[in-house]
Amino acid sequence: MKTSVIGAGYVGLTTAACLAQIGHAVFCSESDTDKLSKLQAGIMPVFEPHLENVIALARKSGRLTFGATEEAIEGGQAIFICVGTPPLGNGDADLSAIEGVARAIAKKASGYRLVIEKSTVPVQTGVQLRKHLSVHSNRGLDCDVASNPEFLREGSAVEDFLHPDRIVVGVESGRAAKLLQEIYQPIINQTFACPVHSRCPSRTPPRFLLTDTNSSELIKHASNSFLAMKISFINMVANLCEMVGADVTKVAEGMGLDPRIGPAFLNPGIGFGGFCFPKDVQAFIRIAEKSACDFGLLREVEKINQHRISHFVSKVREELWVMRGKKIALWGLAFKPNTDDVRFAPSIALGRSLLDEGALVSAYDPQATEKARAALPDVHYCADPYEAAQNADAILIATEWEEFQQIDWDRLKKLMERPLIVDGRNMLDPADLTAHGFHYISIGRPTALSRKSDPANDDLQPSAGPKPILQDFPA
Ligand code: UDX
Repeated sequence: MKTSVIGAGYVGLTTAACLAQIGHAVFCSESDTDKLSKLQAGIMPVFEPHLENVIALARKSGRLTFGATEEAIEGGQAIFICVGTPPLGNGDADLSAIEGVARAIAKKASGYRLVIEKSTVPVQTGVQLRKHLSVHSNRGLDCDVASNPEFLREGSAVEDFLHPDRIVVGVESGRAAKLLQEIYQPIINQTFACPVHSRCPSRTPPRFLLTDTNSSELIKHASNSFLAMKISFINMVANLCEMVGADVTKVAEGMGLDPRIGPAFLNPGIGFGGFCFPKDVQAFIRIAEKSACDFGLLREVEKINQHRISHFVSKVREELWVMRGKKIALWGLAFKPNTDDVRFAPSIALGRSLLDEGALVSAYDPQATEKARAALPDVHYCADPYEAAQNADAILIATEWEEFQQIDWDRLKKLMERPLIVDGRNMLDPADLTAHGFHYISIGRPTALSRKSDPANDDLQPSAGPKPILQDFPA
C-alpha cells in the first residue's frame, strides 16, 4: 500500500523505514530542508541502532523515498502524521505543526485519504483534525482520521516498532480499521525479514487493539505517565532506603516478582528525561485540568523527578565538602544509553548544577557529546572516560552506557586525585568497586553515606514522624 509519513523525527523516520522494511512503498517528507537534503544524501540526523541500515536497504530497494510534504500528500493513500508536538510554556502540547499538515492535506488532496495521527497528541485531537480537514477541504477530499500511537523507545526504536507488545489503533470507521490492519499485517504475523535479529526471539505476537480515537489517544499519555510514575515511585523508595539502611535493588526485585507490578521501570536513578516522559506527564496534567480533573498524583511524579538532581548533588557535596574548584568527571550525557539524544536529559541538569557550584566539569559520552555542547558550553569534553577522569576528585555516572562496565579500574584509580565514584544509575557493583579500592556511592543502596538524612529532601519528608526504628539499635 502506498503510505506516506510526514515528519522525519525519531517516530517518523523509524515508522517510514520499518513500514518499507515490511514491504510497503513509503514516501517520507520533512519540512526542515537541511535535514531533508541530508536524508536524501543518506546522512542520519540521529544515532539510533539499526536505523541507518534499514533506511539504506529500503532506499536501495526503491521502497523508501524522501521528499517534500506536497508529494507525500499526493502520493500516499495512508498518511502518517509524525510531526513534533513539543511542550508550550504552560505544559500544553504545541499542535501547530499538526494543524499545518491538516490544512495542507485539505488543500492538496482529492479522493480518499486515511489520515493517521502517530505523534503524541492530547485526547480529542482526532476530533479536531477531522473537523479541520473537512472545513478546509476544497478538492473533494474523502477521508478517515485514525489514531495510532507509537510506543517505541529511543535506543531500541527499530526493534520496538517491528516487535511491539501491542498495536493500538483508534478509528471511527470499519474502512480505516481494515486499512490499518492491512498495513500492520506483516508485524501482527511477524512475517518480515528482521534487520535486528538473525533469529527473532520467540514472543507473543503483538495484539492489534482496535478502539475509538479518543481512547487510543489517551492510551499513549496514560502509558507514558504510568511508566514515569513507576520511576518516581522507586526513586522515592530509594530515598527511604537511604534513610533506613535498606537496599532498593532488593526492594525493587521483591516488588517486581509480583506480576501485577512487574520488574520493568523500577530502576532508581537521577530521574527520567528524554523528549517523551517529561513533556507527556506535563501534557497529561494539563489535559486532565481542562476536564476539571485534578491529577495531583502526576504533579507529585514530576516533583519527585525534579528533585533527583539536587538529591544526587547533595551526595556529591557531602563527600567533596567544597565543590568550588573541584574537578568532576561526568560520565554519560545522553538521557539514556544507545542514543545521542540529550533533550531533557538529567545529565544536562546535573552538569549545570555542578558548574553553578563552581566545579570544573570534564565530560564523556560515546555518542551525545556534539549534541550536549550546545546545552553545556562550559564543560570540557573528552574523547574517552579515562581522559575525563584525569586528576578528578570524583566521577559521576549519569547514563548507564555499557562500556562503563568494561573499565580498567586499576588504571582509572591511578589517574584520579581521589578514587570516588558516585553512580546515578546503579550500574556498577558496590562490592567490586570497593574491592578495587574505590569509594563507591550509589542510589538507595547501603553505603556509609546513605544513612544520614538529606536536607534536600526536607519538603518531601513526612512532617516530624517517629525516627526510623533501625537507628535505635546499636550497630
Ligand atoms: C519512552 C517510552 O518508554 C516509550 O514507550 C514511548 O514511546 C516514548 O517514551 P524513551 O523516552 O525513549 O521512551 O525512553 P525510556 O526507555 O522510556 O526512558 C525514559 C527515561 O526514564 C530515561 O531517562 C531513563 O533513564 C529513565 N528510566 C527508565 C529510569 O530512570 N528508570 C527506569 O527504570 C526506566
